[in-house]
Amino acid sequence: MIDIRKDFPNLKEKNRGKTLVYLDSAATSLTPKQVINSESEYYEKFGGSIHRSVYELGEKATNAFENSRKRIADFIGASKNSIVFTKSATESINLVAESWGYDNLKSGDVVLLTDMEHHSNIIPWQVICKKTGAEIKYLKSTGHGTINLDDLRSALDNNVKIVSITHASNVFGTINPIKEIIDIVKKNGSKIMIDGCQSIPHMRVDVVDLDCDFYAFSGHKMFGPTGVGVLYSKEEILEKMRPYQTGGGIIETVTMTDSTWTSIPHRFEPGSPMAAQAIALAEAVNYLESCLEKHDNSLNEYSLERMKSINGISIYGNPPERTPIISFNIEGIHSLDLAHFLDYEGITIRSGHHCCQPLMQALNITACARVSFYFYNSVEEVDFLVDKINKAIQVIK
Ligand SMILES: Cc1ncc(COP(=O)(O)O)c(C=O)c1O
Repeated sequence: MIDIRKDFPNLKEKNRGKTLVYLDSAATSLTPKQVINSESEYYEKFGGSIHRSVYELGEKATNAFENSRKRIADFIGASKNSIVFTKSATESINLVAESWGYDNLKSGDVVLLTDMEHHSNIIPWQVICKKTGAEIKYLKSTGHGTINLDDLRSALDNNVKIVSITHASNVFGTINPIKEIIDIVKKNGSKIMIDGCQSIPHMRVDVVDLDCDFYAFSGHKMFGPTGVGVLYSKEEILEKMRPYQTGGGIIETVTMTDSTWTSIPHRFEPGSPMAAQAIALAEAVNYLESCLEKHDNSLNEYSLERMKSINGISIYGNPPERTPIISFNIEGIHSLDLAHFLDYEGITIRSGHHCCQPLMQALNITACARVSFYFYNSVEEVDFLVDKINKAIQVIK
């Protein structure tokens, strides 16, 4: 663990009167004071609606917002105009499905997903497929929680117009071999969208080197604020896309009957954007970058080994490369009961279907427990977790 705990005000909070052991960072990470300060600074020092105000306070806000776009672009190796601010990764995926999908999908076409996708990377495709007559097909994950690349090759043909796949699974923790996957998909001439929600918080990603068409992620899983997400796409693809939502700020001209659209990326950011959150996201990127530089994987391996020692535990997935996520069930104990038990010990874990009902169906379960670690977690917290799970087994069973 890097000594960063002092930066997180939440870690001083109690959970049910006990010392907080926060093990739900895959759902949402805690926020360091540097990011909190950056967001409050917007309200204290800036003002005015961005992109509209000629006065100094508004200009300062606009500059900070656009500088943040540049910072985020640099972080993932992209150009500034290829970064669209959205309210979440979910909105980023909806944007692609609705805007790109509406003009590029038709009856007979296929959208290829995997069974390890989050609902946010399934439902937008279901909706656009129903509108356009296209069909969704799924690659089935292996027992190890991985994707078989030969299965991918076999599933690809001229009908597959886009493949949308998670870079890292929010259930198995699997880091998919995304570069190889992109290469295979590109050779087939299909577009590829990557859901980067669970990867960006843990690794360096260079979207240009990957050569993906779309890459989506959320601020609140990478030390950033809620209410801001990112969509990356190649400029030449964005140029051809219609707005996803419309309104003020995205137009060139408006008459009583018609409108024309402004240039990218602003064409996809209608209304008054989430300025404070987007600005603070740049600070989150600064913070994350410094953590990634000092990163070590030891807690990841340690937690997995310790969890494996628990009697009656089934851990889902055994991928060769993983983020620090462990999903599991314990024989004879419902994951919800376990989560409640641990809650009263101060430990926050997730239980349920993790927005992955199709994957739960494939695994033949309805729910499981999930612990997820981030840079601020410690070996002592892992030991405490394992002790308390063992206690739960004695008390609940
Ligand atoms: C893999 C994955 N994709 C998409 C999402 C949706 O993210 P958000 O709710 O921030 O839009 C999540 C959130 O848990 C996720 O884990």
